[in-house]
Amino acid sequence: MKALLCTEYGPPHKLAVQDVPSPKAGPGQVIIDVKASALNFPDALMVQGLYQVKPPLPFSPGAEVAGLIKEIGEGVQGLKAGDRVIAFPGFGGFAEECVVAAERIMPLPEGMGFATGAALVLTFGTSLHALQDCGRLQTGETLLVLGAAGGVGAAAVEIGKTMGARVIAAASSADKLDLCRQLGADETINYSTEDLRKRTLELTNGKGVDVVYDPVGGDYTESALRATAWHGRLLIIGFAAGAIPKIPLNLALLKERSLVGVYWGDSVRHDPPGHVKNMKQLMAWFAQRKINPVVSEQLPLAQAPDAIARLMERKVKGKVVILPES
Ligand SMILES: NC(=O)c1ccc[n+]([C@@H]2O[C@H](COP(=O)([O-])OP(=O)(O)OC[C@H]3O[C@@H](n4cnc5c(N)ncnc54)[C@H](OP(=O)(O)O)[C@@H]3O)[C@@H](O)[C@H]2O)c1
Repeated sequence: MKALLCTEYGPPHKLAVQDVPSPKAGPGQVIIDVKASALNFPDALMVQGLYQVKPPLPFSPGAEVAGLIKEIGEGVQGLKAGDRVIAFPGFGGFAEECVVAAERIMPLPEGMGFATGAALVLTFGTSLHALQDCGRLQTGETLLVLGAAGGVGAAAVEIGKTMGARVIAAASSADKLDLCRQLGADETINYSTEDLRKRTLELTNGKGVDVVYDPVGGDYTESALRATAWHGRLLIIGFAAGAIPKIPLNLALLKERSLVGVYWGDSVRHDPPGHVKNMKQLMAWFAQRKINPVVSEQLPLAQAPDAIARLMERKVKGKVVILPES
């Protein structure tokens, strides 16, 4: 089978498509015939050896896939060959076949295509967990989303609107902000041309926002925190801009603000029933047409290195999906 392989840590152009033996299912594992595999920022970090998870070399990136079950390992119950599924292997998804633990599999809902299924779990799972479980976002509150046209950001805009918030989307270009408006954002801020703190305060009549969803980090974090209201919550999602901000804690004391860390992958391990409940919620919202992942590009395996490079250069919108068999 064909797989995109990382044989040494480094920039994406070092990745290459190679023929490798098909994986075998061990006890409790399942082999998936991968029809679609979504790209996420952690893939870019993982191939450079910069992510908290470091698979042994050589490995294929690709954290989330949709496809058909090909083979079942010993002891796996309730799944069979041919089932349409979504899976979260963590890595190994940029390949024609991948191995995944059976508990990391869920059914692909009726009427949902493979590309949409692959693009849904990580980004929407993260954003629902962040806004609902960590941020306690309430109907009628105001939510500021940074990096709002990116993978997790676009999901936060859609979920924020679905939860009844007023959503302010912040991103770095006019076409990214157009996408945010199409997703339902009430207001937009171009933070490469406008002062994020000043504009956020203007849009909230000086009060500030209730919740900030921050997957970007860098200088934006402190500006956004300074534009939160009494009891505001800053959700720490990630640091796509590279720099991990150091925040003066008097900003938390003033206005009784909270800084809340979000680590979706570990939350799934700590609270499996909570994860299942959230996935059911997302599938129900998808069926009601309240959410729909933005799949901006569908590309063959050979173009995955270029897509990872463009993701690192802020040139990607929504989700890029790789089709390993095309
Ligand atoms: N905590 C969790 O559980 C969790 C789960 C999933 C992902 N994450 C993290 O969330 C972050 C975003 O992931 P994603 O998959 O949504 O990535 P993405 O699609 O690339 O979106 C990231 C956004 O960050 C902005 N950005 C600002 N400076 C950037 C830079 N120097 N390089 C790249 N992007 C930059 C870009 O928007 P603008 O150009 O508009 O600024 C971009 O759209 C990553 O740090 C990832 O590790 C965390």
